[in-house]
Amino acid sequence: MCLLIVERVSCELGGKYIVRVKKMTDCQGDAEGAKSPLELYEQLTAQGDEVRTLKTAKADKAEIDAAVQLLLKLKVGYKQMTGQDFKAGCPPSENSVAPNNGPAAVDADDEDTVDPWNVSTSNAKGVDYDKLIVRFGSSKIDKELVDRIEKVLGQKPHRFLRRGIFFSHRDMQQVLDAYEKHKSFYLYTGRGPSSEAMHVGHLIPFIFTKWLQDVFDIPLVIQMTDDEKYLWKDLTLEDCHHFAVENAKDIIACGFDVNKTFIFSDLDYMGATPEFYRNVVKIQKHVTFNQVKGIFGFTDSDCIGKISFPAIQAAPSFSSSFPQIFKGRKDIQCLIPCAIDQDPYFRMTRDVAPRIGYPKPALLHSTFFPALQGAQTKMSASDANSSIFLTDTPKQLKNKVNKHAFSGGKDTVEEHRKYGGNPDIDVAFMYLTFFLEDDEQLEKIRQDYTSGALLTGELKKILIETLQPMIAEHQERRKQVTDETVKQFMTPRPLNFNF
Ligand code: TYM
Repeated sequence: MCLLIVERVSCELGGKYIVRVKKMTDCQGDAEGAKSPLELYEQLTAQGDEVRTLKTAKADKAEIDAAVQLLLKLKVGYKQMTGQDFKAGCPPSENSVAPNNGPAAVDADDEDTVDPWNVSTSNAKGVDYDKLIVRFGSSKIDKELVDRIEKVLGQKPHRFLRRGIFFSHRDMQQVLDAYEKHKSFYLYTGRGPSSEAMHVGHLIPFIFTKWLQDVFDIPLVIQMTDDEKYLWKDLTLEDCHHFAVENAKDIIACGFDVNKTFIFSDLDYMGATPEFYRNVVKIQKHVTFNQVKGIFGFTDSDCIGKISFPAIQAAPSFSSSFPQIFKGRKDIQCLIPCAIDQDPYFRMTRDVAPRIGYPKPALLHSTFFPALQGAQTKMSASDANSSIFLTDTPKQLKNKVNKHAFSGGKDTVEEHRKYGGNPDIDVAFMYLTFFLEDDEQLEKIRQDYTSGALLTGELKKILIETLQPMIAEHQERRKQVTDETVKQFMTPRPLNFNF
């Protein structure tokens, strides 16, 4: 069976959309043409056997790699088709079908899926971010831009910039021009509070935002979209609001300055601030149902709350939504650090901004902190085994890394010593690129792992020893965050800036 996929490629082309129509089979990611979950399951089982046979027979490395690639690809297809991870010996139930969030960002050409709800690729190295830049129409954070940031700030860029973890941007040059001319701008980021515990991946934008706030010395607003989580998940309004407050504690524990930061729950702030709601309504008037269907893949059966929600995530991009901070000024540009899954919201926002008389928000996009099982998906709170939570004990963390972190090492010590490991697909190494500060130490680990001098167990030990103190310190700082502190951050008020 064939589906026609209508993809709106860009919504920033003077308000016009380019529409591409693609044909694809009804089992995305399944290059082998399996028709049902069970057929795909059987194909996967056979492919798993094939990989094992090749390894036992010590077949040619290229042949094994090709078989493993196909296995991974089939696994991604299986997850997309059934919504479940493939487990050997556990065939899919008859009614297992993946949740459909629509066609918004599915690319049939390279099979990478990136949207606010799903991230998946068949490539063990992770999403092809260069292709994503082309597809989303953003710009690469290249060496020239990193050098300019260093020059403008007069200090070493954050490791996330040095290592390409923040890899894409929109209008960052414009923000640097503004900074050089002493023009004001502000930071905006957010969190969808879907559970009490956040995972390590969620820290990425907040760690980076904290650095940006320190180096630029500018106001920051953080949106807690408790309304979004109520609309999307099977949770009560009370649950979502409670999670917003609990998650705010983790965010505050990243070290934000209370005099420069306003955190708000949509459920509280929307009703309390007429200026915010007016901007929401303005945005709603300038985006059609067809447009949000194209951008987000909404269908006729989605509730109307979902359909109008993007306007609520867009509104904090405009300074007039925060009269207490910006004293009614409409002209202050904002800079949004986030992972690239949130970009659809801001493509829409940038399309609307000039039509309602506001500056377009600038963006800095990060790559995804991968799931423990491998870079084919991002770390996600909805899969507990894929995630290291900020509440994990040192023992839990150690067990998760040792048991689940996908290894790029060889099957035996002898083979590993002889052929070396592959850091490009090794989750422990990937995590170290996010958190190990010392560039030289990281490079040495990469070389030693590649040459086979460093074994998988030793690499995992370095990761565990890097993460355990980091998480323990976070937990300690979080303990110091009282309800009173949260209240301070979440009270609408002027910040320490004159506008
Ligand atoms: P949420 O709660 O899904 O994610 C919060 C932030 O974390 C990023 N993120 C990740 N970054 C790296 N690796 C990962 N594995 C990973 N998983 C999540 C997200 O990109 C996000 O920056 N709707 C939003 C909340 C929101 C928001 C915003 C986010 C409202 N306004 C403005 C960014 C900017 C959400 O549910 O995020």
